[in-house]
Amino acid sequence: MSILGPRKTLGGAAAPGGSLKKTLGWPHLIALGVGAIVGTGIYTLIGVGAERAGPAVILAFVIAGAVCACAALAYAELATLIPAAGSAYTFSYTAMGETIAWMVGWALIIEYSLVCSTVAVGWSGYLVGWIQSAGVDLPTALLAGPHAGGVFNMPAVLVALAVMSLLIAGTRESATLNIILVIIKMTALTVFIIFALPAFDADNLTPFMPYGFGSSEIDGTKRGVMAAAAIVFFAFYGFDTVATSAEETKNPGRDLKIGIIGSMIACTAIYMIIAFAAVGAMPYLELADSPEPLALVLRSLGQVTAAQAIALAAVVALPSVILVFMYGQSRVFFTMARDGLLPQGLAKLSSKGAPTRITILSGLVSATIAGFFPIDELAELANAGTLVAFTSVAACMMILRRRAPDAERLFRCPQPYIVGTLAILGCLYLFFSLPSTTLVRFAIATAIGLVIYALYGRRHSRLRAG
Ligand code: ALA
Repeated sequence: MSILGPRKTLGGAAAPGGSLKKTLGWPHLIALGVGAIVGTGIYTLIGVGAERAGPAVILAFVIAGAVCACAALAYAELATLIPAAGSAYTFSYTAMGETIAWMVGWALIIEYSLVCSTVAVGWSGYLVGWIQSAGVDLPTALLAGPHAGGVFNMPAVLVALAVMSLLIAGTRESATLNIILVIIKMTALTVFIIFALPAFDADNLTPFMPYGFGSSEIDGTKRGVMAAAAIVFFAFYGFDTVATSAEETKNPGRDLKIGIIGSMIACTAIYMIIAFAAVGAMPYLELADSPEPLALVLRSLGQVTAAQAIALAAVVALPSVILVFMYGQSRVFFTMARDGLLPQGLAKLSSKGAPTRITILSGLVSATIAGFFPIDELAELANAGTLVAFTSVAACMMILRRRAPDAERLFRCPQPYIVGTLAILGCLYLFFSLPSTTLVRFAIATAIGLVIYALYGRRHSRLRAG
């Protein structure tokens, strides 16, 4: 039997929702990967991470990066073994059956929606900081959610809706624009390093680990290196969205491998340097609550123009992260609907071959959430979903190595059982380092998903019907 089992019949043009067009090459995929990885995690959550771990946020980046690297290797193997849209959802369907696949797909939907919302809120922080530092006063009611004394975060809502419109205009155009935005974003980070690194002061690094290593509750907040790792983990993922575009890739065997691993390595290297430069340049407590920490560092060093430039780059380029995740979310949704687990009317393609209805739904949900919630809570819940997806991917890789050892794998993960086990243990450790409120919210969201599956998905499944 094919490695795809019953899904085999769904990949071709005969599938009722149709197949996605093959328009992407590896440069698009690296740009999609870097476009998704470098974003609010490094631009904004580095401040939350410093608040949770102190200067040891540098260590938190190393830990989160190492866990992601293991998961990336598993992803790369599965993406070339099963090059079909749907990412962890599709892998889980193949290796562990429909119920687990549903749960993983649901976790991905939570992840992708909340990543879009988180980045929209991070974008709003840089926009507002940029406008205010230019001397313009704006009404707080429309700039922040109720948690921060406002009514709703209008800039965050607007940027999410704008990106939704861009995606509806077509995949190819969006991916090409994404390459330009990636260049802007990476240039800004390089400028940050050039100005911040010379201001390095070793005194800022002591005490290095003021809240210890493990995640524990201090003053009502989870703190420690692992608590910070559980949040800055957000900064690393995104390479998985490359896997979701497998079905639209011209040469998946070569292009996915280069796309996933290449973008991961590039980002990990730059984060280490940024974290070191940021906490070395100013006391971590001053970084902590800033909605625009990188601009704050440069302003405190008297580099006002560079600070404005970084903020402007964030404003121009962070939407590329929303773009990639909204794209990924629409493809997971598309696959689940095509399989019958969600209403198939949603999987209808436009004349350009894009799943427009799903994109509109995803965009509206992410925009609404972005309007009302604080960035750290959104990021933590997104991380919970991602950690579940990564755990399942590592498990799938090991299961399929056993079940189908001879199936053609264009990329083979080195030491798959060691890497897979490390990925699972690392993800679980990060998951349980999250605040308990996040874990409760995630459990509730999962329960809602299971109810929808029991009432709708199970009964309409096309694969189950055989
Ligand atoms: N890694 C992405 C970011 O940092 C989600 O924004």
